[in-house]
Amino acid sequence: MKKIRWGILGTGRIARAFAEGLKNTSNGYLNAVGSRSEKSAHLFAKEWNIEHFFGSYIELAKSTSIDAVYIATPHTEHNKNAIICLEHGKAVLCEKPFAVNASQVKQMIQKAKEENMLLMEGMWSRFPPLMEKVRNIIANHEIGEIRTIHADFGFRPETKNIEGRLFNPKLAGGSLLDVGIYPVSLSFMLNGKPDSFVTDWTIGETGVDEQASIIFKYLNGSMAVLHSSIQSDTGQEAFISGTEGTIRIHKQCWKPQSMTLSKWKTDETKEIEIPFIGNGFNYEAEHFGELLIEGKKESPIMPLSESLEIIKTLDEIRNKWGLSYPFE
Ligand SMILES: NC(=O)c1ccc[n+]([C@@H]2O[C@H](COP(=O)([O-])OP(=O)(O)OC[C@H]3O[C@@H](n4cnc5c(N)ncnc54)[C@H](OP(=O)(O)O)[C@@H]3O)[C@@H](O)[C@H]2O)c1
Repeated sequence: MKKIRWGILGTGRIARAFAEGLKNTSNGYLNAVGSRSEKSAHLFAKEWNIEHFFGSYIELAKSTSIDAVYIATPHTEHNKNAIICLEHGKAVLCEKPFAVNASQVKQMIQKAKEENMLLMEGMWSRFPPLMEKVRNIIANHEIGEIRTIHADFGFRPETKNIEGRLFNPKLAGGSLLDVGIYPVSLSFMLNGKPDSFVTDWTIGETGVDEQASIIFKYLNGSMAVLHSSIQSDTGQEAFISGTEGTIRIHKQCWKPQSMTLSKWKTDETKEIEIPFIGNGFNYEAEHFGELLIEGKKESPIMPLSESLEIIKTLDEIRNKWGLSYPFE
């Protein structure tokens, strides 16, 4: 079987996690890295035993030694990084959030269509086997019709670096785009786009949202209560409540490995554990590799139309708060 030759764009924290994840894929391997600096590229290549390294992103995009690029830069860079890779005939797996706003995401999708290339948002929490099981349980109506979702992702960073991507408005900082997107994406995956929502936020010293609460409402009366924070640790659980039972995805629900399934009709409660093989990034990489090998241009698990609807909703949420970034 053909193996996907991966390139990683950026050499930060998540780039390392993805490099580790690739070790547990059957259909791909890491063959190149690109950094803004030759030195970082070289160090990363040495650390991960990668054959090719480049001191600029454009050189990586042009490289004939790769088939796919994983974009691992701050949110603000995703759009331009993804576009140069697509333009140079590379399939692109781009970290979440896909980009900072809907206008940027539309450009990326347009470019992928023009170039006839595979593009996917790296919403890695959708791909572990436990999440596949959640989707199957719901599709088989084992908990009936979903009425309520409670999900949150809050954490307190050890140090508050106001220049770093988490708090810096110039890098599209804030809890919503960084971690709030996980509960939002979960809710979209299970219930689709909400028909209306209400929201409130806590503004921090740098002007970005340090906490966000959102309630999605659907015409059928179903609701999702979602929360994100970069001020405090929260439960990081997801509770999906149906007319005939519940699923509790345990901490960390964005890194799903265990859940409790309760079915009321049969008075049954089951603890289900499906631990990761590898660090979990392997599942999205494997899925992406399969799509690429099959010649597909988008994922049925993380479709482009859904990534676009999610970012549109995040735009609307920020709009309600009055939060726009300096570059918007
Ligand atoms: N899936 C997940 O669980 C998960 C977890 C954390 C983060 N993420 C996502 O991954 C992306 C990167 O996060 P990270 O935590 O890896 O960030 P990070 O540690 O700050 O690394 C980002 C890398 O991007 C490159 N870069 C390009 N332009 C930059 C700029 N203006 N400022 C700083 N770095 C720049 C740098 O690499 P070079 O110097 O080599 O060019 C840097 O090392 C974010 O979009 C985030 O949402 C996902």
